[in-house]
Amino acid sequence: MADRQPNDPRTVAVVGATGAVGEVVLRLLAERNFPVGELRALASERSAGSTVVFDGQDIIVQEACPESFDGVDFAFFAATGSLSKTLAPEVAKRGGVAIDKSNTWRLNDEVPLVVPEINPDALEKHKGIVSCPNCTTIGFVMALEPLRREAGVKSVVVTTLQAVSGSGKPGLEELARQTAEVDRGEAPTPSFYPQPIVGNALPLCEDFREDGYSTEEIKLLNETRKIMGVPDLDVTMTCVRVPVPVGHSATMLIETERALSPERAREVLSAFPGVEVIDDPSANVFPTARDVTGRDEVLVGRVRKDLASDRLWLWQVSDNLRKGAATNAIQIAEEMVRRGLK
Ligand SMILES: NC(=O)c1ccc[n+]([C@@H]2O[C@H](COP(=O)([O-])OP(=O)(O)OC[C@H]3O[C@@H](n4cnc5c(N)ncnc54)[C@H](OP(=O)(O)O)[C@@H]3O)[C@@H](O)[C@H]2O)c1
Repeated sequence: MADRQPNDPRTVAVVGATGAVGEVVLRLLAERNFPVGELRALASERSAGSTVVFDGQDIIVQEACPESFDGVDFAFFAATGSLSKTLAPEVAKRGGVAIDKSNTWRLNDEVPLVVPEINPDALEKHKGIVSCPNCTTIGFVMALEPLRREAGVKSVVVTTLQAVSGSGKPGLEELARQTAEVDRGEAPTPSFYPQPIVGNALPLCEDFREDGYSTEEIKLLNETRKIMGVPDLDVTMTCVRVPVPVGHSATMLIETERALSPERAREVLSAFPGVEVIDDPSANVFPTARDVTGRDEVLVGRVRKDLASDRLWLWQVSDNLRKGAATNAIQIAEEMVRRGLK
């Protein structure tokens, strides 16, 4: 392996190749010219025998099983948490690297949780499984880290506005179906979400816990602390599902350790790889979910000082299927190749 060159072809598996994230992983592997030798498209037995497209070629989908990973260098997991739990260790056992998009391994001390622009060194300690943060966490930490490096961060209050594709294809299908129902003059019927998502905003992403927070909110808290290496970082959050197909938005109120002006905040955000500032209130210019759809950058706007304190407000959007999922996962693989780790 030591002699392996970055451009030598790798054998790649995509688990969940028929899903919302899996489809984007397939597209971006080709778009980013990742050195794919052989591509294995894996899903459940429901989709076995169907085809997905990779780099202009039809690939037959196979049911994922331990043997699917014989000879695999990188396996991108974008299926279910329970599948990652059983099959990611099978990849590691066979000498490959599983890059997991599910929640399963994120807080495991043996597993790096990586956003390549922020903590790539964590990859050096990998043991065959690397975890990708939640789609909401990635946009959040990408906007926070430049400010933390400049001025330290004491606390953050964040409210997210999350697209339905963050729940995968079932979320997209529910919004499309309810939109058609409303167009026909019918009442929208909830099935996947507990209340209608069309024309609505639901202050619940995933499930409620006994303490009144949602599981999504607690992921955002714990993952941020792990990625930034600040175990007691004070983050308080409300995650809201909105009828937007793609693109998570968030409003963030940030208390820094040292004084930070909005002007300097814009400068350090603009200088950070993967972040772009779009912020001109005098011309009604700010980034939106529509603007970020199909892009890999995290877009930041509305940077301003709080009226009642020295804290800073900002607005942040990212494509949950790209930087929030597929792009970040492929960047992890690219970084591992660059470092000679695979
Ligand atoms: N959507 C996002 O923005 C986002 C962002 C970050 C992380 N994630 C995470 O990424 C993962 C995939 O999410 P998604 O949004 O792409 O969901 P999705 O659209 O519902 O797709 C799920 C995929 O998993 C496959 N699958 C389900 N059960 C399986 C099984 N038992 N064995 C093998 N394959 C199975 C499905 O295959 P079939 O066609 O056979 O059913 C499908 O390809 C989840 O862990 C999710 O939490 C999603």
